[in-house]
Amino acid sequence: MNYQPSPQRYASMEYRRCGRSGIKLPAVSLGLWHNFGHVDTYKNYRQILRMAFDAGITHFDLANNYGPPPGSAEENFGKILKKDFAGYRDELIISSKAGYLMWPGPYGEWGSKKYLVSSLDQSLKRMKLDYVDIFYHHRPDSDTPLEETMTALDLIVRQGKALYVGISNYGAEEARKAIGILKQLGTPCLIHQPKYSMFVRWVEDGLLNVLEEEGVGCIPFSPLAQGLLTNKYLNGIPSDSRAAKPHGFLKEEEVSEHRVEQIKKLNTIAEQREQTLAQMALSWILKDDRITSVLIGVSKPEQLTDSLQCLNNKKFSGEELAEIETILHS
Ligand SMILES: NC(=O)c1ccc[n+]([C@@H]2O[C@H](COP(=O)([O-])OP(=O)(O)OC[C@H]3O[C@@H](n4cnc5c(N)ncnc54)[C@H](OP(=O)(O)O)[C@@H]3O)[C@@H](O)[C@H]2O)c1
Repeated sequence: MNYQPSPQRYASMEYRRCGRSGIKLPAVSLGLWHNFGHVDTYKNYRQILRMAFDAGITHFDLANNYGPPPGSAEENFGKILKKDFAGYRDELIISSKAGYLMWPGPYGEWGSKKYLVSSLDQSLKRMKLDYVDIFYHHRPDSDTPLEETMTALDLIVRQGKALYVGISNYGAEEARKAIGILKQLGTPCLIHQPKYSMFVRWVEDGLLNVLEEEGVGCIPFSPLAQGLLTNKYLNGIPSDSRAAKPHGFLKEEEVSEHRVEQIKKLNTIAEQREQTLAQMALSWILKDDRITSVLIGVSKPEQLTDSLQCLNNKKFSGEELAEIETILHS
C-alpha cells in the first residue's frame, strides 16, 4: 500500500539544537541496531519506520554492522527508504558508523582511513544513498593515531559522502582530543553517541561537561538499558524479548534478581508520576539540557507509541530524583 506521511508529523515532536551546530534533532530518535535485520519481520519494521516518521522522528541511526547478519539493517532500511520515503530525503537525518568487525583481514574494523572510507562506501551502496547526514567513528582505537581517524572523517565530509561527523563510545579525554583535531581540520564534531541510562551513568563523570564546553551534541544510546528499564521484565523473561533471543545483546543473566528489585521500585515511582517506566527512564535523561536526543530501539509499534509519551512529563521533583538515586544506589 502506498504510504502518505501524516501532514501533522511536525505538530507534537520537540526538536533540540545539536551542540552549537545548525542542526536540530528530534528529542526522540530511532535506532536500527536490533529488529531491522534479515532475521526480523519486514511488515513489522516497515510499520515502525512509518509510525516514527509520522510522529516527527526525523533521525534514524544505523551502522555498518547492524542486523543480523551485519549489513542487513542498512539494506532493509534502503529498501524502505526507496519505497516509502523517496520524496522525503531532505526531511531525514540518516546516520551510519564504522568501527566494529565487518570483513576479514586487517582493514575490516577499528579506525584506519582505509577501513572508514571503504566501510562508508559499502554502507552507501547498501542504503542506496549518495550521502549520509552523520558518519561516526563507532569506537575508539588505541592502535591507530587519532589524527588518522579524524583526518578520515574530515576527508569523508570533503568528498561529500557525509554532511557531519561524530564519535561514539569515546571517553571524556579522548573525546576532547578528537573534537580538537576535527576543529583544526575545519570539520567540527557534530555529536557524541555514548551509552547512557539510569543504569549506566559514566557520562556524568566528565563527558557531558566536555561536550557542553566544546559545543558538541549528545545522543545517548540504549537509554532503556536494552529494555530493562521498562515493565517487560517485572515477572520473568518474556519469550519475544531481547533477553530471550539468541542474537539479542541483552543476556539473560543481566535480568538478575537485584535488577528486577530495582526495576520494580522504579516502576512504582513511574506509576506515581502517571508514566510507564519506559517513559520515565527517557524523561529522566531528557531533563538535562546537554542531551540532544534519546536514541531508542523498538521491537513493536506499540512500544514506539508508549515511549514517545516521555515528552509529556519531563519535570522531576527533588523528592522524586532523590528516591530514584536511592534505588539506583541500592
Ligand atoms: N554507538 C553504539 O555503540 C551503539 C550501541 C548500541 C546501540 N546503539 C544505538 O542505539 C539504539 C538503541 O539501542 P537499544 O535498542 O539498546 O535501546 P533501548 O531503547 O535501550 O532498548 C530497546 C529495547 O527496549 C524494549 N522497549 C523499547 N521500548 C519499550 C517500551 N515502551 N515498553 C517495553 N519495552 C520497550 C524493546 O525490547 P524487546 O526487543 O525486548 O521488545 C527494544 O528493542 C540502537 O538501535 C543503535 O542505533 C549504538
